[in-house]
Amino acid sequence: MFGKLKKKIWSAAVLLAFLAAPAAFAEDPPPTPEELVKIRAANDACLTCHSEAGLKKPPKEGLDLKKLRNHLVDLGTYTTSDHGQMACSKCHGDGYDDHPHAPKAREDLAECQDCHARKAMRIERQFDKSVHAENLSDKFTCATCHDPHVMTLAANLRDPHKIVAQDNKICLDCHDSDIAFAKMAPEKKKRPAIDDIHSWLPNTRLHWKAVRCIECHTPTEDKLSLSHEIQNKEKAEKKCATCHSANSSLNARLYRHLAKEEQNKYGFLNSVMLSSSYVVGATRNPTLDMILIGLFVATVVGVIGHGIVRALMNSLRRRKNHD
Ligand code: HEC
Ligand code: HEC
Ligand code: HEC
Ligand code: HEC
Ligand code: HEC
Ligand code: HEC
Ligand code: HEC
Repeated sequence: MFGKLKKKIWSAAVLLAFLAAPAAFAEDPPPTPEELVKIRAANDACLTCHSEAGLKKPPKEGLDLKKLRNHLVDLGTYTTSDHGQMACSKCHGDGYDDHPHAPKAREDLAECQDCHARKAMRIERQFDKSVHAENLSDKFTCATCHDPHVMTLAANLRDPHKIVAQDNKICLDCHDSDIAFAKMAPEKKKRPAIDDIHSWLPNTRLHWKAVRCIECHTPTEDKLSLSHEIQNKEKAEKKCATCHSANSSLNARLYRHLAKEEQNKYGFLNSVMLSSSYVVGATRNPTLDMILIGLFVATVVGVIGHGIVRALMNSLRRRKNHD
């Protein structure tokens, strides 16, 4: 009820802000080289303090260095991130232009939907149905997962290992940390250990490096992009062959940004992974399947045949002993 009202007021405010001073909307053309030089210079002013170098050699005395240590932005990571061509002040407002920063500077912080209205509408609908939005109320927001100084679109990272490292870090930083988990959900007594939950999955830590949590925890209907609906555990994917097979679901998801032949390479690796603990149908090689099925049948026939022969021999022997 209040949430809806708040959203309406927000939309109105965003519209007003748009009319008053067009901000950096995601649909805007990228900055020209001249504009970029100005942006970089302005950002450097922030980074004279908010960087490792700034921490070591503060530009002025009396700064709260203990606080500053928790507020660093890495320039290299920032520059290659999705927002790397933006001025810090586009999101943070003018309240931070001088230090000490304005007491209410934080209230000006722009939200994702202010600039990504169209995308955010689709994503918000999915996110609202997720376990986090439903169980953890307003405390869990877009920014809980998205560090806007760091994140890079999967399509730009392309390398599956980089994508997995980035996306799983989000989940593991909380689900693999008692401190972060308790901070988000103080009323929950204990965080279930992430490896125990998934003990049915062989070599879980290797899986965390090769495949994303969201691969198993979001619905697969949305073909255009990954859904933001993290579902409850009953709906999670447990079938090995979903990934370990010729037409791995990963081709449409994690590997979608790769060229076809690269996809096939990764898909093939996934399928041979299981060859040591062989599951029929999990490889892409029908001949191998036939050979293994043949071997299996031969073994079964052998075992049964062996059993019959032994039973016959035994009864023959018993008859002999009775004689
Ligand atoms: C002279 C050093 C200095 C400069 C320059 C500076 N900051 Fe800060 N900033 C700090 C320090 C120190 C803190 C830690 C807490 C405090 O003193 O406010 C801080 C805190 C912050 C915070 C977190 C505080 C909060 O409200 O939660 C943000 C965000 C921030 N700065 C953004 C910026 C931006 C954006 C710029 C550039 C426009 C900038 N700062 C320039 C020193 C600086
Ligand atoms: C696309 C929007 C966006 C841009 C651009 C941006 N920030 Fe931020 N920044 C945020 C948001 C959102 C948060 C709050 C995250 C949260 O809720 O913890 C934040 C938090 C911070 C903080 C507090 C850090 C913390 O861990 O609490 C600092 C310091 C900061 N930003 C500095 C910068 C500097 C310096 C730049 C430019 C180099 C910059 N930001 C560019 C959105 C942005
Ligand atoms: C002040 C405006 C602004 C805010 C606030 C903002 N962004 Fe952006 N964002 C941009 C611009 C500008 C670009 C670069 C344009 C592009 O590449 O499409 C961008 C690019 C992106 C991209 C990559 C391109 C795309 O459209 O998918 C993602 C993902 C993204 N932002 C997510 C977020 C998230 C999540 C938040 C909130 C934590 C956020 N943004 C907040 C302006 C903003
Ligand atoms: C539980 C963590 C989480 C939350 C909460 C979250 N995101 Fe995301 N988001 C991700 C991950 C992980 C990806 C990377 C998926 C991919 O590679 O396509 C992503 C991708 C995106 C993208 C780029 C891909 C696309 O579909 O365009 C945008 C834009 C985005 N998120 C916006 C948002 C907005 C807006 C919110 C809040 C309504 C939000 N996210 C909340 C984890 C989260
Ligand atoms: C291969 C698929 C798969 C992957 C990858 C995966 N999960 Fe799961 N997860 C499941 C399944 C299936 C369950 C339900 C297990 C059950 O009920 O026995 C589950 C359960 C959970 C639960 C429920 C815990 C509880 O309360 O019992 C959490 C939280 C969770 N996963 C988080 C994660 C995180 C975080 C990652 C990434 C590091 C991840 N999962 C990766 C399949 C997966
Ligand atoms: C800041 C902390 C935080 C982050 C980040 C986070 N989660 Fe969670 N998640 C929680 C908490 C707390 C719960 C417990 C909610 C409850 O059961 O009430 C939870 C619950 C879950 C559940 C269990 C639902 C069930 O059925 O019990 C799954 C699955 C899950 N998260 C997956 C993920 C995935 C995947 C990501 C990354 C995309 C992620 N989470 C990111 C804190 C987090
Ligand atoms: C969401 C996709 C997904 C699911 C579901 C999944 N796996 Fe995997 N698994 C992978 C990927 C990706 C790799 C790594 C392949 C690579 O490195 O190229 C992997 C690796 C492996 C490995 C090799 C580990 C090693 O030590 O080298 C084994 C064994 C394995 N999986 C077994 C299973 C079994 C058994 C199941 C079902 C209980 C399962 N996997 C479910 C994606 C998945």
